[in-house]
Amino acid sequence: MRKYIVAGNWKMNKRLSEGVRLAEEINVAVEKAGALKCDVVIAPPFLHLTEVSKAVGNKVSVAAQNCAAEASGAYTGEVSASMLQSAGIASVIIGHSERRTFYGETDAVLAKKTGQALSCGLKVIFCIGEELSQRDNGRYFDIVKSQIENGLFHLSADEWKNIVIAYEPVWAIGTGRTATSAQAQEVHAFIRQTIAGKYGQPSADDTTILYGGSCNENNAKELFAQPDIDGGLIGGASLTAEKFIGIVTAF
Ligand code: PGA
Repeated sequence: MRKYIVAGNWKMNKRLSEGVRLAEEINVAVEKAGALKCDVVIAPPFLHLTEVSKAVGNKVSVAAQNCAAEASGAYTGEVSASMLQSAGIASVIIGHSERRTFYGETDAVLAKKTGQALSCGLKVIFCIGEELSQRDNGRYFDIVKSQIENGLFHLSADEWKNIVIAYEPVWAIGTGRTATSAQAQEVHAFIRQTIAGKYGQPSADDTTILYGGSCNENNAKELFAQPDIDGGLIGGASLTAEKFIGIVTAF
C-alpha cells in the first residue's frame, strides 16, 4: 500500500546540541498531534544521526542525507551504507540536486549509491527534478524520465519496493518559488506512469512520490491534496518544529 511521508532534510544546518533540541521538539509535537496520516522522517547531518535517534520515539524515524558509492575502504571522508545501518538508520536520501550540482554526482554514481543502500537494508529516498532552463524549454519530462531510468531502472521489482521518489524541481528548492499544485501533480502523474511502464501499475500505485521545493505549512495542504503527491521532502521549513508539524498534519 502506498504510504504518505513527510521528511525533513536539515541539510548542513544546526550544531549538535541545536539538532538534538530540534529533534526533541519535533518528537513532542508529533506525540501531541495524535494519529497521523503520514510517516515522519528527519534527516540530520551524519554527525548528529546517533544523538538525534536517541532523542526521538518510534513515531519519528531518522534518515541520512547521503551515503558512499563504495562498500568500504580508502575513501577519506565518506560514510558507507553499512555504517548507517549499523547505527540503526533506516533510510537515506540519494541524488539530492545539491549533491548532483555541487558534488558532481552523476546518474551512474547515484545508481551505485542506491545499490549500496539497498544491499544494506536501507530504504532510499531518491531525488529527481529539472533545472529552470529545462522547465522553460519544455524538456522537464525527458529529464525526470532519464534520471529515473539511469539511476533506478536497473533495480529488480523486489528492490523497487524500498524506493521512495522525491520530485524536486531545482528552481523551487530554497527559492520560495514553489511549483503550483497543478505543475507538481502533472509531473508526479508522469513519474507514476513511467514507473508503471517498467514495474507494472500495481507497483507504481504503491510507490510513494514526494514533492520538494519551498513546500511549507501554508502550501502543503493544497499540494498533498493532489492524487499523485504522497507527501513532501522539506528543507527550510523542517528547521522549525512548529512549521514542520504544520506540514506533517497537512493531509
Ligand atoms: P526547501 O528544500 O524546502 O528549502 O526548498 C527542499 C529540499 O531541498 O529538499
